Formats: sequence, C-alpha cells, structure tokens
Amino acid sequence: MSLFPNLLLSLFLLIGVCNGRTKKIEEGHVQMQTQTLNTNPTHFNPQVPPLRTLSSSKRFEGSSEFVKLKYHMGPVLSSPINIYLIWYGKWPQSQKLLIKDFLLSISASDRRVSPSPSVSDWWQTVSLYTDQTGANISRSVSIAGEYADLHYSHGTHLTRLSVQDVIATAVHAKPFPVDHRNGIYLILTAEDVTMEDFCRAVCGFHYFTFPSKVGYTLPYAWVGNSGKQCPELCAYPFAVPGYMGGGGPGQLTPPNGDVGVDGMISIIGHELAELSSNPLVNAWYAGEDPTAPTEIGDLCEGLYGTGGGGGYIGSVMKDGEGRTFNLNGRNGRKFLVQWIWSPILKACAGPNALD
Ligand SMILES: *[C@@H]1O[C@H](CO)[C@@H](O)[C@H](O)[C@H]1NC(C)=O
Repeated sequence: MSLFPNLLLSLFLLIGVCNGRTKKIEEGHVQMQTQTLNTNPTHFNPQVPPLRTLSSSKRFEGSSEFVKLKYHMGPVLSSPINIYLIWYGKWPQSQKLLIKDFLLSISASDRRVSPSPSVSDWWQTVSLYTDQTGANISRSVSIAGEYADLHYSHGTHLTRLSVQDVIATAVHAKPFPVDHRNGIYLILTAEDVTMEDFCRAVCGFHYFTFPSKVGYTLPYAWVGNSGKQCPELCAYPFAVPGYMGGGGPGQLTPPNGDVGVDGMISIIGHELAELSSNPLVNAWYAGEDPTAPTEIGDLCEGLYGTGGGGGYIGSVMKDGEGRTFNLNGRNGRKFLVQWIWSPILKACAGPNALD
C-alpha cells in the first residue's frame, strides 16, 4: 500500500463518542427490576441521557439483516496475545492494578476466581472470529511487559503520529521487547495528557506502527484517562453532560469508584476486541471504506445488557452499595463493559444477557 501522509491521518480508527439520539423511548418500556437476596446483585436497566453529538456514531442497537460485517482476508490475533503496557505519565498504583485486573481477567485460563458473567465469558464473543485458515482469535491474553514513561518523553500533548514515537521509545528501552509475533502495545495516557481529537472525536483508537517510526509493524491501541478532561463523553455512563446538571438520573455509580478509569475499561475492552479482529485493518469490519471501518465494538457502543437502546443501556447489575456492573473479574473485581457484535447471533452479545 502506498499511502500519502494526509490519507494516513484519516486512516486511524476512531471510537466515535456516543451519539445523541433523537429516537423516542418507546411507551410502555418497563424497567427490569428484580429484587433478590442482598448477597445477589439487583438487575436494572437504567435510562441514561444521550450525549451531545460530536461525531457520527456508529452505534447500532440490536440485530439487523442490514449490518454487513465482512471478512477481508487479513489476519486476526489467533496466537496467545501478549499485551505490552505503556503507562504514559504519572499513574497511581491503584489505578494500574485496576486496569491490570481487567486485562488479566480476559484469559479463559483464569476462570477460578471469576463467577459468571465474567470478563472471560465476555471475550468468548470475540473469540468467535476466525481468519481464512479457520483459526479463532485466541482466548489467552497476558501482560507480557510494562513500561512506565514517567517523564512524558514526548510531551503532555500527543498526536496520532507522535504516539508511535512513544512506542518507539519504549521498545528501544531494554528490557521491553519488540514482540512482532504475538505482541500488541497498549498505550494508556494519564489524565493530564491531551491527545489529538481526544474529547472531540475519540476516546481511544487502534492502528499499527510504521516500520519507519518503530522498526516494525506492531498492532497498538491508545486509550486516555478522561477523568478530568471529558468524563461526560468518554466515561459514559458514569458521568453525564454538564447541561444535564451532573449527578442527574443518568449518572451511574462506577463499579470501582473511579469514574475516569472505570470508564476507560470499557473503552479498553472495545479497542482490544477490535484490535484482535482487525489488527492490520484488513480483516473484520463493515462498510465499504477501509479508512472509516465500522468494527465489532463500534456496532455495540453504549449497550451493556439485554433491552438496551432508546436511551437505555440494557439490563445490568447493581451491588449492595449501588455500584453498576455487568461482568465479574479476578480478585472480586466488577466491571461495566460494552457488548460486542457476535458473528453467530448477528447481534450484540454479552454474557449477562437475560434471554
Ligand atoms: C471458533 O469460531 C467458530 C466460528 O465462529 C465457532 O463456531 C467456534 O465455537 C469458535 N471456537 C472457539 C474455541 O471459540
């Protein structure tokens, strides 16, 4: 592929921030509410105010014959996935542990501690995607290395291209390796780091590095902590837009008490699902335009359970302290993560489905 720089800039895959929708809530839509013993979580289907429209959302509710998700013959991540984490800026240890607990909950090998519906059950939908040899996306995901860029080696404002310099700096710092067989690189920026288009058009994106910058073609994803910058956009549904008066009916209590990081975890899940099914942007996506593909996470943005849509996020759970979640993870953690498009059901799917 011969690409011009201006085309490159438009090639990056975006998560559109959640789109404000005008669709009316259907009359008679009854909220799911079942009361159980206090050791069990309560199911509910909260209505969350729609967000301002900052970019066209690709969110698609429910199932449809019209979603033409296609396989374009490229590879998927079918070997055990090694995640290399790059912590850019100052990250409190507690936030790092929370994100790592989510990532380490994905692997099917670590089921012992997570009751269903678990993060590992959630990844099962992702593992239904195959490549042309019939190999599925791997169910084994581990953290193979971590690098802390405490001194903001490329400044506190990053761009879509300079984020590749961050990866280059990290992989050149021994012993952090270039793993061009099973490696994916996940760059997580602290809440004081700004990113081109962050909070205006994107909450995260994934792409691959250029040999001219990093020496290899390495799939990577970037996700930023929106806690201070734009929680109402990127930490949906834990924060609501200011004009809704914050703390309104749509604001849900995050499962780990951290609006920015709990919001980030769903975006990380979205990006990992897409990176695994479309690592070189030539595998699984819908739409005719590979520069603006609609991928398996995009189709289900804002959906977390059964009965979502029309302003509802779907049936999720609430623990004794009112914290909202839909998945269990290791170390007793709970997470709220969006659903993923299933190639079998041809619909958004998740392990907390009620039917
Ligand atoms: C692999 O993908 C196929 C097709 O989606 C699916 O039927 C099968 O259950 C998957 N296998 C695993 C181990 O996930």
